Amino acid sequence: MSIAPKGNAVCEDLLRVEEVTKIYDGTIKAVDNVSLTVASGEIFALLGGSGCGKSTLLRMIAGFEAPTQGKIFLAGEDITHLPPYQRPINMMFQSYALFPHLTVWDNIAFGLRRDHLPKEQIVARVESMLSLVQLSQYANRKPHQLSGGQQQRVALARSLAKRPKLLLLDEPLGALDKKLRETTQLELVNIIEEVGVTCVLVTHDQEEAMTMASRIAVMSEGHFLQLGSPDDIYEMPNSRQVADFIGNINIFDGIVEEVESDHVIVRSADCSHYVGYGMSGNSGRAVGVALRPEKILLSKEKPAGKYNWCDGEVTEIVYFGAYTTYHLKLNSGKLIKVQTLNNARDLSGNFSLGDRAFAQWSDLAMAVLTQ
Ligand SMILES: Nc1ncnc2c1ncn2[C@@H]1O[C@H](COP(=O)(O)OP(=O)(O)O)[C@@H](O)[C@H]1O
Ligand SMILES: [Mg+2]
Repeated sequence: MSIAPKGNAVCEDLLRVEEVTKIYDGTIKAVDNVSLTVASGEIFALLGGSGCGKSTLLRMIAGFEAPTQGKIFLAGEDITHLPPYQRPINMMFQSYALFPHLTVWDNIAFGLRRDHLPKEQIVARVESMLSLVQLSQYANRKPHQLSGGQQQRVALARSLAKRPKLLLLDEPLGALDKKLRETTQLELVNIIEEVGVTCVLVTHDQEEAMTMASRIAVMSEGHFLQLGSPDDIYEMPNSRQVADFIGNINIFDGIVEEVESDHVIVRSADCSHYVGYGMSGNSGRAVGVALRPEKILLSKEKPAGKYNWCDGEVTEIVYFGAYTTYHLKLNSGKLIKVQTLNNARDLSGNFSLGDRAFAQWSDLAMAVLTQ
């Protein structure tokens, strides 16, 4: 047993959601037995398509919905039945609805005034929030005199002004166009990290989740498909659904031929896959072998050895500037995508439509999908 030194009682998990279920109207199971913990200072993302239960889970954490079953703890305290205004939590909605008739300054001060904070404290907090989101010179403007990105930052400043322990963001960048989203994602992370607030973020955009969060739960139909770090989920998806949802991926259908502690061999129509790590289960079962397009190398010469390569015809070449995507039609008729970086040393730019090409990859490039 370890005893934490006095005055240093670090609460590792700020938020704990325990086996929470939400059923609407007796029939709609929006959230299905979900558990998660979020560490203090962490940015955690709930990622999934529309209707999978992200907002419902967030609203239960905020207290706007009561769980049908399960419990929610904040800093060790059971808050399952605490009303929203008694929780040290702030939720920022997708339509962050700034008050149009109030200035930026007054928008940020709104909640503090409602809580009857002393005037000097309100001034100090609003000024520090304005400088945090770099809008000090816009303090006297009205929301309509700001760009979308600036409005979003005001909304964030307003959410943070009350110094919540936990910040909940529901599709915070949904109102911004793609280019602005990307810069705002990083700004948002910097601000959240500077304040040190713990954050749960809801998004349907996998790049946004990857960019912003330290851990991601991929949701579908009310439950978690996979929970892990961005690179866990990207490199080692645990199912076809997750693999498909997160970025571009090739999946070969195959049969396990050999299982050892340090490798697995899977035979698919177009190639033999030698996977450089072990797995549980027996040979003979059907699996998918997932392979990211950027992990494949194209060449004109036949690779050595019998594993981890296939050949086909180049049927499409799509130039994206920094990289090019080749579509390769394999002998079985299956199409795969190969992505190559367009740096000066890469010779794969020599391929033209209709060329024969060999695709090869390393034995750690694949993830075996058993479901
Ligand atoms: N207040 C509600 N009453 C009944 N059904 C709801 C309510 N809110 C959400 N739902 C249903 O619950 C499911 C999950 O919704 P939601 O949590 O909003 O998903 P997401 O945020 O992932 O798009 C959907 O089927 C939705 O129609
Ligand atoms: Mg939603």
